[in-house]
Amino acid sequence: MPPKRCRVIELLNAATSTEQVLAKGWVRTRRDSKDFSFLEINDGSCLENIQAIVDHDTVGYSNIANASTGASVAIQGALVASPGKGQRWEIRARELSIIGLCPDDYPMQKKRHSDEYLRTIAHLRGRTNKYGAMFRLRSRLSHAIHRFFEDRDFNLIHTPILTGSDCEGAGEMFQVTTLPLEKLAKQNTEIDYELDFFGKPAMLTVSGQLPVETYCLAIGNVYTFGPTFRSENSNTSRHIAEFWMIEPEMAFADLDDNMDLAEEIVQYLAGFVLAKCESDLSLFTRFVDKSLIERLRNIAETRYERLPYSDAVEILQNSGENFGFEVAWGKDLQSEHERYLTEQYFKRPVIIYNYPIDIKAFYMRQNDDQRTVAAMDLLVPGIGELIGGSQREERHEQLLARLRRFNLPVEEYWWYLETRRFGTVPHSGFGLGFERLLMLLTGVNNIRDVIAFPRTPNNLEF
Ligand code: 4AD
Ligand code: MG
Repeated sequence: MPPKRCRVIELLNAATSTEQVLAKGWVRTRRDSKDFSFLEINDGSCLENIQAIVDHDTVGYSNIANASTGASVAIQGALVASPGKGQRWEIRARELSIIGLCPDDYPMQKKRHSDEYLRTIAHLRGRTNKYGAMFRLRSRLSHAIHRFFEDRDFNLIHTPILTGSDCEGAGEMFQVTTLPLEKLAKQNTEIDYELDFFGKPAMLTVSGQLPVETYCLAIGNVYTFGPTFRSENSNTSRHIAEFWMIEPEMAFADLDDNMDLAEEIVQYLAGFVLAKCESDLSLFTRFVDKSLIERLRNIAETRYERLPYSDAVEILQNSGENFGFEVAWGKDLQSEHERYLTEQYFKRPVIIYNYPIDIKAFYMRQNDDQRTVAAMDLLVPGIGELIGGSQREERHEQLLARLRRFNLPVEEYWWYLETRRFGTVPHSGFGLGFERLLMLLTGVNNIRDVIAFPRTPNNLEF
C-alpha cells in the first residue's frame, strides 16, 4: 500500500526522518546533473518548497523531462535529513509520476513578472510565491476576524446582498434586473419596474450597516462581514467595485466605545499576522516592504492619535504643505491630507472624529453644536482611510429631519425609522475595508493585488 499523502508543510516540519512518504505538488524548478535531478515541489500548503532528489534508480526517472516547471507530480520516497543549506528535510525519491504535464508556453516559467502582467492572468497568479502568501494570509486573517468577534460575544449577521434601499443615500450602486433591457431598448419602451423580479428596482448593497443595525437593536453586539459593491468610477490604487467589509455594530455604545473597538481590532489583527503568519510575512518583508515588521509593530502596539476634525483642519492649514486640494472647514479631507496626518505629522494611526454634518451620511448622530456629527475615520500610514463609522442617530425626530435634509425618500426608510420608535438606544458601529486592511498588513500598494479577482471599471475578465 502506498503511504498516505503528506502536505509539504507537514514534511518540512517533520520531527523525524521517515522511510516512506508520498508528496504531491507542482514543480517549481528542476536542476539536472548527469546522473540525477533536483526537483523543488510546492503544494501551496506553505511558502517553502520541498526538495526531491530523483536519480537513475528512481522508478519513472525516464520521465524526468516531463517534470517541467508547473507540471504536477507525485513523489514517493524516504524523508531524510538534507545536507543542503536552508532546509531540514528532503525526499530521496523511489518513484516519480507525472500527474499533469505543463508545456513550454506556461507563463509562470519566467521567474519574476510584474504585478500588472499578473493581473491579466489572475487565474494563474496564485501559483507564484507572492500571491500564494497573500491568499493564505487573507484566509487566516478572515478567520482571525471572526475569532475576534466570537471571543467578544458579537453575533454574526448575514446581511443581504440584494437590496431595495441605498444605504448611504449616495447613489453609485449597481442595479440588478431580470428585465430584457435590449428588447426594451429596441422597442423604445419605458421601463416598468412592476415587471422586474422584485416589482421594484433592485441594487447590490454598498454596506450591510442598515440591516445589521436592526439586529443590533434586537440582540446587542453584532457584526457582518461580506461583499459590498460600489460603482464609483474612481480608478485609484485603493478603490475596487467589489470589496469585503467588516461592519460591527454595538448597542448602548457611544463614539468613544466605537473608537476603542476600532483601535482594538486593528491592533489585534496586526498582532495576529506578526505572531501567526511569520513565514508568509517574510516574503512581503523581503520583496515588498523592508520596513513592514516595524510598521506592523507600530500598528499593533502604539496608542492611536484621536483628534476632532476641526483640529485636523488647523494642523493641515498650518502645515506649510502644498496640497493639491484646498483645506477648509466644511470640506472633506482628501487622501493627501489624510496621509499627511498619519504618515508625516503623527507617524501612527489617527482617528479623526466629529466631522461637519454636511459631508457625512444622514444616519450619523448630530452633535450638540448642530454643525458636526459623531463620525469617525481611522487613518493609517500608506493608505489613508481604513475605517469609517459613527455613533448613529437614535432619536426619531432628528433622524427624520436628516432624511429630509438629504432629500431621501422617507417612506422607504420606514423600517429603519421604526427601530427608533420602538425602544431606541444609543448605538455605534463602523466599516473596516478588508482589502485596505490587507494592504496595510502586507505593504502591497495596489488593492487589485490583495483580492483574487479584482473588479474595476472595464475589467470583468475572470
Ligand atoms: O466609509 P465607508 O463608506 O462606510 C460605510 O460604508 C459605513 N456604512 C460603514 C459602517 O458604518 N458600518 O466604507 C467603510 C470602509 C472604508 O473606510 C474603506 O476601508 C472601505 O470601506 N472602502 C473601500 N474599499 C475598497 N474599495 C472601495 N471602493 C471602498 N469604499 C470603501
Ligand atoms: Mg468613508
